[in-house]
Amino acid sequence: MTSLSAPVPPVPSEVALGSIAWLRASVARFSNGPDHTRRRALAVDALAPVDTDALQGTAFSRTHRIVAGLDVVDVMAEIARPVPVGVLAEALGLPDVSADVTPVAAAYHPHVLPGAAAEAALTRLIAECGGPTELAAARIGLLVQACDATAGLVGNGLLASLTGKPAEQPVLATRRRIDGEDVTVSLDGTPFGAGPRACPGARQAVALATGVLEALRGFRLTEVETTWVPAPNLRMPAVLRVTRG
Ligand code: HEM
Repeated sequence: MTSLSAPVPPVPSEVALGSIAWLRASVARFSNGPDHTRRRALAVDALAPVDTDALQGTAFSRTHRIVAGLDVVDVMAEIARPVPVGVLAEALGLPDVSADVTPVAAAYHPHVLPGAAAEAALTRLIAECGGPTELAAARIGLLVQACDATAGLVGNGLLASLTGKPAEQPVLATRRRIDGEDVTVSLDGTPFGAGPRACPGARQAVALATGVLEALRGFRLTEVETTWVPAPNLRMPAVLRVTRG
């Protein structure tokens, strides 16, 4: 996977402290060289003490509680985004900040112009993390990276188990700078990436998704057609309504 070892397109470094642009400029995901090494180590170290069995168990019980008493549930909105992020946040020593992570995740990638709601949500996340440091960015970065991708793992896994079709890969491609050009690189066949930037949260993501999916056993789809999210880089259901079988 030599192309995945290439640098990522750089993001602006002259940014307002605590803004979405600051988050991009402070996380491993959009950094190269020694900045990437140092920031990735912060993220890896923050994940290291997290017990994956506990993540799975808590994701199971939280999902179980949400579906208890509901006739029909949209798994994507009510479970696949908030549960994994909320459970991971608590494992990282934060409160359940999932409601603020979702808008920040939607504004995280450099081609998006962040709106006021995303900036305000990030301000609250930074406050929960004790101020705008590189460590705070690393913790927020973990939650933001977990958000859509793990929702995709849950949605695609559920869809596959209910339709008998193979599970789709949630994250389809990434960006690299190769020979001075910013190019899209396919992640086909490497669901968690590869090389020095491979996903450091793969084990945690699988544990969270497994816990959620265990709690949804015995449910069935209410609709035959699946609507997919419009993002070109993500392959996951936009809505996935299920009811008890
Ligand atoms: C607990 C959930 C997750 C966490 C905490 C997490 C965290 C991260 C972080 C911090 C990075 C940046 C690493 C770096 O640049 O050095 C990353 C990259 C990546 N993650 Fe995850 N992630 C999670 C779930 C997922 C899932 C479910 C998928 C897909 C199925 C995924 C796919 C990827 C890929 C493909 C990359 C590499 C992107 C690239 O090379 O440009 N992640 N993840």
